[in-house]
Amino acid sequence: MKYIVKNLPEYFKFQEKALKDPERFWGAIAESFQWKKKWDKVMNADMHKADIKWFEGAELNITENCIDRHLDERGDQTAIIFEANSPEEKAQHITYRKLYEEVNKVANVLKEQGIQKGDRVCIYLPMIPELAYTMLACARIGAIHSVIFAGYSSTAIASRVNDASCKMIVCADGSYRGAKEINLKGIVDKALEDSPSVKTVLVVKRTHCKVKMKEGRDVYLEDLTQNVSVHCPAETVQAEDPLFILYTSGSTGKPKGMVHTTAGYMIYTAHTFANVFQYEKDDVYWCTADIGWITGHSYILYGPLLNGATTLIFEGVPSYPDHNRFWAVIEKHKVNQFYTAPTAIRSLAKQDIKHVEKHDLSSLKVLGSVGEPINVEAWNWYYHHIGKERCPIVDTWWQTETGGILISPIPFSTPTKATFATFPLLGIQPVLMSDDGIEQEGNLTNGKLCIKTPWPGIARTIWNDHKRYFDTYFSAYPGYYFSGDAALRDPAGYYRITGRVDDVVIVSGHNLGTAPIENTINEQEIVAESAIVGYPHDVKGNALYGFITLKREISEQEKEQLKIAINNSIADQIGPIAKLSKIQFTVSLPKTRSGKIMRRILRKIAANEMENLGDTSTLLNPEAVQAIIVNKKD
Ligand code: PRX
Repeated sequence: MKYIVKNLPEYFKFQEKALKDPERFWGAIAESFQWKKKWDKVMNADMHKADIKWFEGAELNITENCIDRHLDERGDQTAIIFEANSPEEKAQHITYRKLYEEVNKVANVLKEQGIQKGDRVCIYLPMIPELAYTMLACARIGAIHSVIFAGYSSTAIASRVNDASCKMIVCADGSYRGAKEINLKGIVDKALEDSPSVKTVLVVKRTHCKVKMKEGRDVYLEDLTQNVSVHCPAETVQAEDPLFILYTSGSTGKPKGMVHTTAGYMIYTAHTFANVFQYEKDDVYWCTADIGWITGHSYILYGPLLNGATTLIFEGVPSYPDHNRFWAVIEKHKVNQFYTAPTAIRSLAKQDIKHVEKHDLSSLKVLGSVGEPINVEAWNWYYHHIGKERCPIVDTWWQTETGGILISPIPFSTPTKATFATFPLLGIQPVLMSDDGIEQEGNLTNGKLCIKTPWPGIARTIWNDHKRYFDTYFSAYPGYYFSGDAALRDPAGYYRITGRVDDVVIVSGHNLGTAPIENTINEQEIVAESAIVGYPHDVKGNALYGFITLKREISEQEKEQLKIAINNSIADQIGPIAKLSKIQFTVSLPKTRSGKIMRRILRKIAANEMENLGDTSTLLNPEAVQAIIVNKKD
């Protein structure tokens, strides 16, 4: 593949080419992939209309690029290492040839079950090889996968399945998570009560727990894969046909089904994987994210497989059976590139350092961070104790919407700097905007982080709601993609992401919109209104603080019960990750004269920054602020 950076001058040289003539640049990269028909035009994009197309006219199948293309040269090489939840369970080494057969078998099953090109298939699976097989099987036949993180609740599944009118759900009987066993099929059964579009449920046996199988609807996958061929022709899809839908929280309303299309996403994830991780033949690469998030889609599955890499899928959690698990897995599989989230680093840094020291981590070459800002302490700990001051840290900034990494150091080329994502990747043009929409020139400045020119990996729309896509990302600053983050630029031109500027809070690296949580709380009969804000938390990065006004006075004991009920309903409707860490009942919430809740002030109070609340005199009810401060517990 062209334009893989090997030193800093080369980075600048390639970047100049990419920005000067993006069509030539991306066209040259695309030449090394397998096409059924080449494109007519590399890029055709209008950022003012949010109308973006790459490689129009081209025909391809991404699985031929992820699998078939590698068979001659590396059919016997491991494509996927599966490390199970329990260290006692033998790891699986799945070769490219075996991956080909498994994917094609599932693809044939999907076809037999009536799934056709363009149909949506919901996948609700733990981190097991079948998750990869099923996603790729969908892509093989041109179906659109919609993976839902297997920690989400029935309500969350139903709303996503209904939004995309999925015809099928692929799930497991149960899942292992540390010492816990979860009945996934039971959760799906409940979701299905409200999901009329689903005709078939394919069940993967994992924990062998007892499940209810509904006649005519539910089938075990393994019963079907036994009788099908290991070959399935790769369906021809157009460059801009959707590859998948992945839901992400919005600051308001229901989750947004981000649509990623085939060719641009393929080229972008492949190219950024090669540059950001500097993967070399025979390396073992491990990203600890769940495939249910974009990080897993792009950098556990598609990016690595497109590069013919060996990618590790880990089913477990960092604390099971002990806090050394990550380090034990790195030693066991001689991992070379390790990519994780700051929240995991912070929680592991709190453990006894002997957990790290008893393992040989000398295989490591590159360390990655993703999902939220990494604080200096966590960065230093990662650099010294895990990378032994040898391994560059790539602090990668990107989003579900961007498809792939946009800002990151290129290891061994870009000098790293704690907490800085450093330079944009090739072809990416970030700008910092003032509130009134003026591009901030020069270095040493800050603003809202926008991207000025299109790149192949950007999501093309929100499923069934192009207006929302336009309004959310392209209306604040016409002609620019607005990320929802703020950033600063240092004198060297390095970017540091400072956090969200909307009502999205990143908790343990998970993107949570506050509005859906507030809606859930407000469903309690006694709740008058509520406001959720994030506050700094030493492990999670941010935790959620709920300010809740009740319709009438209740006893302390009833308040305690209400807190539990609120968190239970949040866990039920959204997922346990969205539970509130702190709840404060308030007499009223501070409001502007137009009646809007002043979240800025609540954020400061939650963070214990009471001394600089700013001017509160213009509020409708300034006394509410004092009352909240006086009653705040910690
Ligand atoms: O606020 C930024 C934060 O995560 C958001 C995107 O979340 P999501 O769509 O779930 O994708 C996460 C994985 C790519 C961003 O708007 N974020 C992500 N990476 C970083 C980050 N914040 C600071 N530094 C990062 N490296």
